[in-house]
Amino acid sequence: MRSKAQIKGHPIHPALIPFPFAFLFGAAAFDLVGSAFTRPALSLTAGHLTLAGIAAGLLAAVPGAIDYFYSVPPRSSGADRATKHAIGNVSALVLFGAAWSLRNADWSSTPLTLALEAVGTLALAYSGWLGGTLVTRNLIGVDHRYANAGKWQDVSLSAAKGEPIEVGHADDLEEDQMKLLRINGHRIVLARTADGFTAFDDRCTHRGGSLAGGVMIGGTVQCLWHGSQFDTSSGGVSCGPAKKKIAVYEVRQERNGRLLLVSPPE
Ligand code: FES
Repeated sequence: MRSKAQIKGHPIHPALIPFPFAFLFGAAAFDLVGSAFTRPALSLTAGHLTLAGIAAGLLAAVPGAIDYFYSVPPRSSGADRATKHAIGNVSALVLFGAAWSLRNADWSSTPLTLALEAVGTLALAYSGWLGGTLVTRNLIGVDHRYANAGKWQDVSLSAAKGEPIEVGHADDLEEDQMKLLRINGHRIVLARTADGFTAFDDRCTHRGGSLAGGVMIGGTVQCLWHGSQFDTSSGGVSCGPAKKKIAVYEVRQERNGRLLLVSPPE
């Protein structure tokens, strides 16, 4: 079975994030000032901002979930960070929702409203910092390129146990270009070098960065999270901080240009 997807981080996710942040931080600030100076109009505004913030947060959660399940490399430091980011965001929405439900009938805030909003603001600030780190350090949603990288290629396949599987055609890649294969739930990179085709685990052995999302030059792939380099024909480490080699897989090119992964992972 074969399907195609072209997702490498959802650029719409970072674009939506400012809205729930602005609305919910604004709600907390308006409620604080409204209750400190007994200004019911400000509390009313805070109530509306809370509803807008929760709606915007739920909307932003859709591309966020796609990134979480599809783009963030599994079993990586980025995946741990993304899990905390998701928990922080959900907690903040729940806290602001509870704070809203505890308002008085005229939507003025209660002490419990203010307390829950204060905790929600802290949760939001923490998850926002994690989200920023996911973009700037883990490059989730960043469409970076290197010279001759070509278009991002990402294919999902399922292979029968022990059977070679067709993973593409020789024309798919030029030298030093890569393609991400998702085979039976495993992430494998198909790459072309000066010597032909090779395949290797998409997971950097340092902290799990995606190698398909890295840079490849002269048959060496570099992970962009902390700079580890691997020889793509042997899997050996050319440069740390990674210490363990990556698994490599045999790729066979047939006369008609079809590329077969000889022993796909089960
Ligand atoms: S995850 Fe650290 S170098 Fe790849």
